[in-house]
Amino acid sequence: MCGIVGYVGEREAGKILVSGLRKLEYRGYDSAGIAMIVDGAIDVRRAVGKLDNLQAVLDADPLLGTTGIGHTRWATHGRPSEQNAHPHRAGDVVVIHNGIIENYVALREALVAAGAEIASETDTEVISHLIDAELRKGGDILTATQAAIARLDGSFAICVMSAKEPGRLITAKNSTPVVVGLGEGENFVASDVPALLDYTRDVVFLEDGEMADLTAGSVEVMDFHGNRRDRKPRRITWDPVTAQKGGYKHFLLKEIHEQPQSIIDTTRGRIAPETGEVLLPELEPLLAGIKQIERVVIVACGTAWHAGLVGKFIIERFARIPTEVDYGSEFRYRDPLIGPETLMIVVSQSGETADTLAAVEEARGKGAKVLAICNVVESSIARKADAVVYTHAGPEISVASTKAFTTQLTAFYLIGLELGAKSGRLDPALEAECIDALVQLPNLIGEALKSEEQIIRTARMMAPAQDVLYLARGINYPIALEGALKLKEISYIHAEGYPAGEMKHGPIALIDENVPVVVLLPNDEVYGKTLSNLKEVESRGGKIVAITDYADAELTKISESIITVPRTSTSLMPVLLTIPLQLLAYYVAVERGTDVDQPRNLAKSVTVE
Ligand code: F6R
Repeated sequence: MCGIVGYVGEREAGKILVSGLRKLEYRGYDSAGIAMIVDGAIDVRRAVGKLDNLQAVLDADPLLGTTGIGHTRWATHGRPSEQNAHPHRAGDVVVIHNGIIENYVALREALVAAGAEIASETDTEVISHLIDAELRKGGDILTATQAAIARLDGSFAICVMSAKEPGRLITAKNSTPVVVGLGEGENFVASDVPALLDYTRDVVFLEDGEMADLTAGSVEVMDFHGNRRDRKPRRITWDPVTAQKGGYKHFLLKEIHEQPQSIIDTTRGRIAPETGEVLLPELEPLLAGIKQIERVVIVACGTAWHAGLVGKFIIERFARIPTEVDYGSEFRYRDPLIGPETLMIVVSQSGETADTLAAVEEARGKGAKVLAICNVVESSIARKADAVVYTHAGPEISVASTKAFTTQLTAFYLIGLELGAKSGRLDPALEAECIDALVQLPNLIGEALKSEEQIIRTARMMAPAQDVLYLARGINYPIALEGALKLKEISYIHAEGYPAGEMKHGPIALIDENVPVVVLLPNDEVYGKTLSNLKEVESRGGKIVAITDYADAELTKISESIITVPRTSTSLMPVLLTIPLQLLAYYVAVERGTDVDQPRNLAKSVTVE
């Protein structure tokens, strides 16, 4: 999981590559590097750590040229080090790579036996040696790359340059994303669109098994055997400003505050203004292909998996279809029972998560239809699924997912309402209540965001903690899990989400005056039961932080802090309860001085198993 960029044209490539890499740093930031052809020879600059370190190297020792490639790395094979940083050079060839070459050990042995000197621990370096070896046999960089690719097993997005052919780039894609940007007298390669938006809006998303041959004046797309593919460019309408911090200190805070708008974007055109009916034409071809949905299986990873857990409640409540939820990384290894009568729903912000993608392939192989909830348009999962409901949340830059999550929940409400209406099992009163709540949701989130002052005070109290427990029940229990995950990943405090009623079966042993207990307590049918659980916390000295739409005298008495959210339909409370949890994690992290947008050891899109 890395970011790749390439440029060929008349301008100074270094600036374009570094600015592109900055937009891709969310994909990994263990090391970075760029390569250019200078006076007929390959020249490389690399640095461990974030892009600023590479910039410092370039300031001290500039690299000037008009064709180049750049890379920002998230280590898979080989620890983060300058030696393992891309680009990787062999003879006249230099390569950047995102993905994993599964047979690299065998390839490396063969190359070493043939006399190659391997300098790094990476799987990538074998690619440059293979291409270099092919070039020596004759042919050009295109045919040499094709011959090398034929020997690779695994996933790759590569960009290749040769000192023998300055002014030419070759890129190829298998299972990890490549987008080619089309300019006037210049062309670009990147892992993702934001890297290109300052330069062009006309792009071609390569498909698996495709490659492109780029010069300043031409782009040819073909398959790995050289058969031409006629690919029409797409015009990207995203505003590049949406990829900036927009005045907030961190992307995370900006993205938390964007949620009213992103939910408007998710629901736009999907609720008929007159009838209040849900409009999801995306589902029609899919539902036409399934006689009757007997079961729904939701698969996702991380935060998206938490959205899936809420999705189970929604689909079972609205459409009365039995639903189960699994992790992408577990699903395909349990020989899942899935077939044509099962609807699989996969959830993925990036649409590139390797485990989720593999689950899609497994399910499709067994005849199930797949519906994807994705944010990134034309992402790998979106393209593999039978139908996609895009969340339209816009680029999410901060590694920790916020607006992607609440828009995934919103997509589940729309899908649940649609499945419920189509099956005739949805109670019209519940339908009307939920649609009305969905329409009101952006305003209510705006209200929930106003509790920031109280949240900052609470965050100061929580910041020194070593452990935090999050409790909730029913449809809000997944939100407790999500709150704990947010805190863990950005503040590095250990946190666990638990169903409130389970606390007495073990976790209660952890509670003392040093353990804050965050409880989600909407005024629903289990309010009283959860309150009883809180009394058990209080009597052991635990500090209670209550997030609620209703604080009675008892709750007020036992709580250290009460954060209120507006009231809405019980089914939609998970969205509103999420907002303070995101802010709480954010302000605890700020208090502890962590790298909020790029927490250690994490990367935005996990394209390896
Ligand atoms: C947590 C987070 C991750 C992702 C997970 C799946 O804040 O962002 O847990 O949710 O890696 O990513 P996508 O949704 O891109 O498949």
